[in-house]
Amino acid sequence: MFDKIKIFSPATVANVGCGYDVLGFALDGIGEEMEVSKRNDGKLVIDEIIGFDLPKDPLVNTATVAAQALLDAAGSKQGFSFTIKKTINPGSGMGTSASSSAGGVFALNELLGRPFTPSQLVEFAMEGEKAVSKKAHADNVAPNLLGGFTLVRSYDPLDILTLPVPEELYVTVVHPQVEVKTTDAKKILKKQVDLSVAVQQWGNVGGLVSGLYESDYDLIGRSMVDVIVEPIRKILIPLYDDVKAKALEEGALGCSIAGSGPSIFAFSKGEETALKIKNMMQVKYDEVGILAYTYMSKIGKEGVRII
Ligand code: HSE
Repeated sequence: MFDKIKIFSPATVANVGCGYDVLGFALDGIGEEMEVSKRNDGKLVIDEIIGFDLPKDPLVNTATVAAQALLDAAGSKQGFSFTIKKTINPGSGMGTSASSSAGGVFALNELLGRPFTPSQLVEFAMEGEKAVSKKAHADNVAPNLLGGFTLVRSYDPLDILTLPVPEELYVTVVHPQVEVKTTDAKKILKKQVDLSVAVQQWGNVGGLVSGLYESDYDLIGRSMVDVIVEPIRKILIPLYDDVKAKALEEGALGCSIAGSGPSIFAFSKGEETALKIKNMMQVKYDEVGILAYTYMSKIGKEGVRII
């Protein structure tokens, strides 16, 4: 067993249009790094957070909150030090809190000799999500820990399925620099939906899952319709309708809100279209003077890993 580890923890996109709180996928090579080492005093200590000003209090930071959940389940009093290097600012909708939650539990599991399975790690990482959004959702931490696309079939009991990743599927993400807190983005949603609306939504979830299995890009695109969450949350995102319409015009298969926003993501078949959409998204926000960062990748088949 080793005493120190360095890991990469990918950014993720949850909901994927129609799958609020159940669908998610990992990005490829975009995310954060974390170094974790054992210490002898039984404490969890965040030595440094590089990149952004985030809480180092172990009772608040998602990495240590999730790590504590794992230690409690293991009955371990081992202490650990953390250095976290973040590349995406919090409140982006790209699963940045989940990257830390999942990264923390993955690193500890490795350093303790892997007492837990990746699925068990999802449950601990969810405690980190609960700390920031008041709800222990798994749609970011599951793809982070398991890689690729995941579906939370059930929360109680927790049942997570991994779905296939079509080879030519690319994702483009734009992150306009306005903060949308997940707690607020959850609060504004309606608590009830009409049956006719629910019928449309679950038809699309089924269609999207089938599209992934069949590598049917058109089916993936036409299933990325969210009639429940997007109509409410899009008002929090500047230029949302404009960017989405233009992405579809440029050939995107589908376009929706990444997690709870404000990032917007689009799926494309092939790199060329994805790149065109990336440039378009950047221009749109530049034109109105809103600072925005754009990203493009394949779907990250591998989740959190040792580097
Ligand atoms: N499924 C969660 C939500 C993800 O949309 O609120 C938060 O990133």
